[in-house]
Amino acid sequence: MTERLQKFLASAGVASRRKAEELITAGRVTVNSKRVTELGTKVDERDLVAVDGQLVSARDEQRYFLLYKPSGCVTTLSDPQGRPTAASYLGNVKERVFPVGRLDYDAEGAVLFTTDGELANRLAHPRYGHQRVYLVKVKGDPEPEQLARMVAGLRLEDGPAKALAVDVHEKAEKNTWLRMVVGEGRYHLVKRLCEAVGLQVLRLFRPEFGGISVEGLLPGRFRPLEPEEVAAMQRMIGLAGEGSSDRDRPVEVVRRPLPKAARRHGHGPPAPPSPRPSPLAGGKPPFPPPGERESGERAERSRPSHPSRERESGERSERSRPSHPSGKKESGERPAAREKKKPRFSGRRSR
Ligand code: URA
Repeated sequence: MTERLQKFLASAGVASRRKAEELITAGRVTVNSKRVTELGTKVDERDLVAVDGQLVSARDEQRYFLLYKPSGCVTTLSDPQGRPTAASYLGNVKERVFPVGRLDYDAEGAVLFTTDGELANRLAHPRYGHQRVYLVKVKGDPEPEQLARMVAGLRLEDGPAKALAVDVHEKAEKNTWLRMVVGEGRYHLVKRLCEAVGLQVLRLFRPEFGGISVEGLLPGRFRPLEPEEVAAMQRMIGLAGEGSSDRDRPVEVVRRPLPKAARRHGHGPPAPPSPRPSPLAGGKPPFPPPGERESGERAERSRPSHPSRERESGERSERSRPSHPSGKKESGERPAAREKKKPRFSGRRSR
């Protein structure tokens, strides 16, 4: 089967499709020992593809994990400001997984981590019809017209935007949980839509991603996806079977029962299992230097040991354990970062 070089690199887990394109145009990729800088280049299974001189083999087993991202961490693999990262909650995952899309620092809920660049690419692109579902807690009791305006479409600073659906999910005494569905992953889209119609966002929760729900997970916990969940997600975005990749297809808004956001106890985000060195941390290039990639040795050696690492496939049990794997909570010790009580939701647009 022939495929475009950047797609091959992405599905081999080297980098996202966009980063793979950068590697190619930067002249770091060879095919059968010849440097290739053209993005349209096709390769098949007989071609020898290398990045920085390291052979890349097609990956037949991709990895997929769903994390319940707590609020109080960034979704990027590293943060120039040194804030906690969502990746640090994946303590015993050895593969170079990367997050698909972003959730704001103060938002919480489902984040998919995977090695599968092709799937990530399709989930990110509005063309493939992936709908993002959010539960948004807003102050007060919104007027039906405010919700209708978000669906009708608004002009934001970066162009027109709309929600595919908005309805009242649950009413509390002073606040309202809205269920909002949007068709793109644009920066702060949900917060900006709410703001544009005069609604103050108090909390933002993503109960599922790609149809996979965080039900049964505690904040800071993750689980591997079941093969049938991966297959369903692939079908949804047209990567397998009768897909929905037709961009002219009328938008049908998904309606599934949604889990509730976890209760908050005012003591900050749970501590991650152990510091997990990010493949991108410390200014390292997205593709490691020659010699590192094949075995992933350096990453493994430099990772501090943690009891959970001894369990090769123990991620399932991560689902429902209490969220203090470091044991600090039990011993009464608290990480310094949690000493000071922070406002729960800044309402500011930080990522
Ligand atoms: N919309 C937002 O405003 N923030 C997110 O994190 C995701 C969608």
